[in-house]
Parts: sequence; structure tokens; C-alpha cells
Amino acid sequence: MYKYDHIDQTLVDQRVTQFRDQVERRLNGTLAEEEFRPLRLQNGLYHQRHAYMLRVAIPYGLLSAKQLRTLAFIADKYDRGYGHFTTRQNIQFNWVELEQTPDILAELAKVEMHAIQTSGNCIRNITSDAFAGVAADEYVDPRPICELLRQWSTLHPEFAHLPRKFKFAINGAKEDRTVLLCHDVGIELQKNPSINHGELTANIYAGGGMGRTPILGSLIKQNVPWQVLPSYLTALLRVYNRFGRRDNIYKARIKILVKALGPEEFARQVEGEWAQLHNATKQGKDNFTQAEWERVAKHFTKPNYKILSVLSDEQLQSHAQSKLDANEKIAFTRWLERNVKPHQVPGYACVILSLKPHGTAAPGDATSAQMNAIADLADQYSFGELRVTHEQNLVLADVEQAELLNLWRAAKNYNLVLPNIGLLTDLIACPGGDFCSLANAKSLPIAKAIQERFDDLDYLHDLGDISLNISGCINSCGHHHVGNIGVLGVDKDGEEWYQITLGGDQGNDASIGKVIGPSFYANEIPDVMISIINTYVEQRSTDEPFIETYRRLGVIPFKEAAYKNNGKHSKGAAV
Ligand code: HEM
Ligand code: SF4
Repeated sequence: MYKYDHIDQTLVDQRVTQFRDQVERRLNGTLAEEEFRPLRLQNGLYHQRHAYMLRVAIPYGLLSAKQLRTLAFIADKYDRGYGHFTTRQNIQFNWVELEQTPDILAELAKVEMHAIQTSGNCIRNITSDAFAGVAADEYVDPRPICELLRQWSTLHPEFAHLPRKFKFAINGAKEDRTVLLCHDVGIELQKNPSINHGELTANIYAGGGMGRTPILGSLIKQNVPWQVLPSYLTALLRVYNRFGRRDNIYKARIKILVKALGPEEFARQVEGEWAQLHNATKQGKDNFTQAEWERVAKHFTKPNYKILSVLSDEQLQSHAQSKLDANEKIAFTRWLERNVKPHQVPGYACVILSLKPHGTAAPGDATSAQMNAIADLADQYSFGELRVTHEQNLVLADVEQAELLNLWRAAKNYNLVLPNIGLLTDLIACPGGDFCSLANAKSLPIAKAIQERFDDLDYLHDLGDISLNISGCINSCGHHHVGNIGVLGVDKDGEEWYQITLGGDQGNDASIGKVIGPSFYANEIPDVMISIINTYVEQRSTDEPFIETYRRLGVIPFKEAAYKNNGKHSKGAAV
């Protein structure tokens, strides 16, 4: 895991001192709120519905046990005993007091964390695959590139005032687990003997994003050598900075520029800018060097794996047989099936800890007791590290297969082993109207009602992979556009309504969902879900996942079922 050097540490320490002074000036009235606002947002401090909310970056989703303990400490001492993991590998604290925020930042700085660039029109936290470095289908470990680009983008003076916020995602595996095409820039790493002598190169996608105008990113350039990523990305960002619309906040994202120009013309402009930049900097003196690579990459070498033999699923289960009662056997088997993923190294596995136990406060919330317990589990079973997934769960990436049963038992005490990963109730939800001042409707009660209605694990396992994503407004923080089933909170004449989209997907076959028709009342949503799911169950062919049935049949049968007994009160057309 990357360790700060004195430059990183000085930067975050200085930021704490500066912010302490800024908060003091705000509190004694020498700074007005309008003056203070940009300063606090540069430190990820929002003012939400009830209180201040602090967003802390977890670069590329990697955390140490020590860092997680600090997050637990902050949750206890400065918040209400929990934190909310988001879809962008951040954690949010919802109830912080302004006067205490410098102390929180100081605690974070002690463990090499901060909240810089988690808000504002700058390059935000760079996200990546939660299974980076361990995934069985990985071509390249993306973390050194993530870290090099994190350092390049942090406080980059040229990109501090972009037309809008700017999000990067980086993937290096066969399967895309980063929602790459929904980012302003998606970087797909590859190491292919037939390209550039097998050197690390990147395909660059640009202009993806959700929100009001959801668009999947377009391939802008292939096979960019890793060394020139800073100059290529500088050129790309300059084109956006120059031509991105600043007159209309809804049209300011790069996706609108790429769409307006067309991907080919956008790529041509970037190429022109890049050529100039190369000349001006004498062949790119701001590019990455081998020495830089080595400085960073040494932090991502493999941990001290043991030489182990691979255990088959049958061996894992028979190992557990004698130690478990009948109910536990079913639960453990299901957990192996859904929450345990293959690893690159023989005898190891990756474990997803579910932060979606049915019926709790909010998907992605972890209490301080859970965070401390997970930190202990990481120390005991996974080389003291863990990862945050964009689906709002946590991962222990390096668990010996033979320890899975012990880990399951320990994690069970903290309600972290619900075997629902990838199933309907592993849903993504933004904080919605319970916290967010931009919300049109609540999302957490909807999430809870759906989880309660679909509480039968047998049935959920029979349904298989289905993603259900909920956002409380069109900003789409809950990724509803790429949920197989999406729920969007809308406001109609001051009332909360919910619009359903179907057919969204993430991964290699990413697609944006389609609105099925007019919106529903909140209390209709669980019944609407039942109708949609029943249609799937009736129509699916053997082993066909929900998304494939939908793609085969189209929206009509799902739509008819959803409106047959519901939507009688629906007002007006879909928005
Ligand atoms: C509570 C404070 C929050 C505020 C004020 C906020 C604000 C916004 C806004 C204004 C957008 C729209 C951006 C655009 O299209 O121009 C947005 C998008 C987004 N936010 Fe949030 N958000 C908040 C919380 C969250 C949370 C909790 C998550 C994760 C659960 C999140 C993740 C995202 C994501 C993934 C997008 C979609 C970006 C895209 O693809 O265009 N945000 N947010
Ligand atoms: S989608 Fe809307 S309601 Fe939900 S967190 Fe984002 S801005 Fe708030």
C-alpha cells in the first residue's frame, strides 16, 4: 500500500493548519459564508439538510486497517457512530460540527488521509477496481498508475477551476468493475505483447457520465504509452477547460462537449493540443519516468503469500461440515457462492463483506463497531488491508481459503456476512432526502422497503444477479441509470414520486436504462418490483440472468406488469 513521503505528508499537514485558521475566521465572523464556502468545499465539507457533511477520499478504494480504525474513531468522537461508504470510493460523515472539522482533518492526516478535491470543479478522487492486484482476470495491476495520476492531479493548478467536477476511473482487468464508461475519463490499462512490445499502455475513453444527460464514454485514443499519460491527459483536460460550457451548469460536463463535437472531432482537438504540448515541453518533460514508476510501484508489490494448494468448493464445504449446524451450513455455502471471489494466487480468495444487511438504516453504512471489527479481520486474515467497492461494500482481498470458515464466523458477529452480493438486495442507494439538500425524494426508506419485501434468501438466490440502484434526484449519485432496475426520486408539485428505469448495466456490456413510463407513489414501489421480478421469473429461460431476459423481451411485458395493478395515481408523463 502506498506510504506518504515527506512531500505528501507536508501537503496534508499544511492543509490542516490552513483550514483551522479559515474555520476560526468563519467562527469569529471575519469570513462571511460566501467567502468561506469555496474554502470548505476544497476540503470536502458540504452543508447538508441537517448538518455539515465531510467527504473523505479513499484513493482507488484502498485502506489500511489502521486507517479504518481512525475512521471508526472519527465516527465515534465527531459523528453519530457510523460512516457512509459511497459509490466513488469515498466515506461521508453526515453529522459533523464545523468547529471540529480541523481536528477531524488532523486525525486523518495522521494516517495519510484527507478530504482534498472531494468536492468542487476539479479532478476528484480517482477510482479503480476494488480487486486490483488480486483479481483472477487481471491483465495489469492498475494501482501504480492510479497513484501516479493521483499525485499528478492533486492540486494541479491548471485544473483547479474546470467547468465542472471531473472523474477518472482506471481498470486493468478483463471484466470492468469500475463503471469505466460512466466517467469523464475512463482509462483501460493493457499489457499486450502485440502492442508497443508488451509495454503498459492505455485506451482512453472520454465523455461518460450519469446525471441529467446519461451518456457512455467514447473511445478517444488507443494504446497510449503509460509514460505519456500526464501530457495526454493534460491535453484532453485543456480542450475541456477551454471549450467546456461554463454558461449552464447542466451542460458543463465533458460529456456534453464530446457529444456536441462528436468523439472524432474531440479526439482530433486533443491530438492537436497534445502535439503542441509535446513541442513546448521538449517531448513532454512532465511525463512519467521509470524512476517515478519505481518510487511508486514498490508500494504495490505482492504481500508475503504462503505456498498453498487450491481448495475446491467441495473441499471447502466438507471442511466446514463437521463444524456447522444445518442452518449454518446453508448460510456458509451461500456465502461461499456469492461473497467469495477467485484470487490470482493459489489457495487464496477475496471476500466481500456485505454492508447491505436487510432493513438497516442505509446501504453502505458501517458503524464504528463494524469498522473496528473489520480492521481486526483485515489484520488477522488479509495482511492488514481492505478495499471499498463502488457498490458500497468492503473487501478483504487476501484471505487463505482454509481460513474462510473462521473469517465467516467472526464477521457474522458483526452482521457482515449476508450472502447477497450481486443480488437484488445488494442495492446501491444515495442518501437522498434524509440527508441531501439536493434531493427530490427519499431513497433510504425505498431501499429498506424493497429489502424487507425481498427478504427470502432462497428466492433471492434463485433470482440470481440483478442490480437495483436508487437515486434521490437526477444527479444520479446512486447510479440508477446503470442498474438493471433503476429507481429515481422525482418531485411533482411538492410530492415525492419514483420513476423506474430498466435495462441499465455496468461492466463490459454497459448500458443506460430506459424509463418505463409515469412515476409511482413511494408505497407502490415494492409491489412494482414484485411485478417486474415475477415477469422475469415467468419469462426467463434456464439460467438466463435478468438483464438478458430484459434484452431479449424488451420493455413491454415488464411495463405492462408494473402498471397492471399500480401507477393508478400516476400524474402526467414521465419526466
Ligand atoms: C450528500 C451530498 C451529495 C451532493 C451534494 C452530491 C452532488 C452531486 C451532484 C450535483 C451530482 C451531479 C453531477 C453532474 O451531473 O453534473 C452528483 C453526481 C454523482 N454523485 Fe453525488 N452528491 C452527494 C452525495 C453523493 C453520494 C453519497 C454518492 C454515492 C453514494 C455520490 C456519488 C455521485 C456519483 C457516482 C455521481 C454521478 C456522476 C456522473 O457520472 O456524472 N454523491 N452528485
Ligand atoms: S442523487 Fe441527488 S439526492 Fe442522491 S445524493 Fe446525489 S444529489 Fe443527493
